[in-house]
Amino acid sequence: PALRIDVVSIFPDYLSALDLSLIGKAREDGLLDVRVHDLRDFTHDRHRTVDDTPYGGGAGMVMKPQPWAEALDHVVGQADPGATSRRPHLVVPGPGGAPFTQAMARELAQEEWLAFACGRYEGIDERVYEHARESLGLEVSVVSLGDYVLNGGEVAVLAMVEAIGRLVPGVIGNAESLVEESHEDGLLEYPLYTKPREWNGREVPPILLSGNHAAIAAWRHEQRLARTAARRPDLLHASHGDGDVDITAAT
Ligand code: ADE
Repeated sequence: PALRIDVVSIFPDYLSALDLSLIGKAREDGLLDVRVHDLRDFTHDRHRTVDDTPYGGGAGMVMKPQPWAEALDHVVGQADPGATSRRPHLVVPGPGGAPFTQAMARELAQEEWLAFACGRYEGIDERVYEHARESLGLEVSVVSLGDYVLNGGEVAVLAMVEAIGRLVPGVIGNAESLVEESHEDGLLEYPLYTKPREWNGREVPPILLSGNHAAIAAWRHEQRLARTAARRPDLLHASHGDGDVDITAAT
């Protein structure tokens, strides 16, 4: 069965990128079932209000609980009759969440049903999280793309759905290409070259033309270590412990 993904947002048009490219193709192929909902459809006032001022004071606006609760109730009420999973895992993107990683993408790709709640303004009334957990029985994860602030969850959802969707079996034809990627084994990827052998006076590293597969593998591993040390020293653990890596090789 397809991985079902519901997204609730006040800017459903933002999610139209999910019609394109690999994710759009996966939807056509029946591998992903993506449903986008407009939060304002769950308001009842003439101005379709979704936000209000924060209790206790402070800058900015807070998203009201009522439209969110009705939107989540609606999504949960749309469970597919045949599906094993009766409830989605709710993912709420926000800069205060747990870091989104390749490992988390792998875990979420194993779920049957994901729902994403895109917040805007300063955030969503805390009671919405309680309602989702306690009244609807949902697993709720607040997840951050990184230590910077976006204007809303929509861009984060595009990134997360792409990272998760490509891990769903069948979405990427060559499953082998998935294991040889940055962040799959804790090291960044080695540098890549294609034809021509000499371009603009620049040569491909001769070892790649040597036909010596063991030497090529060793060179690539060195490059990965050097790159990781230069760009992402935080990823290097004792387990890779070659120790003295020449970081000048990495750019
Ligand atoms: N919404 C606002 N900032 C965000 C971030 N860094 N990650 C995920 N969602 C966000």
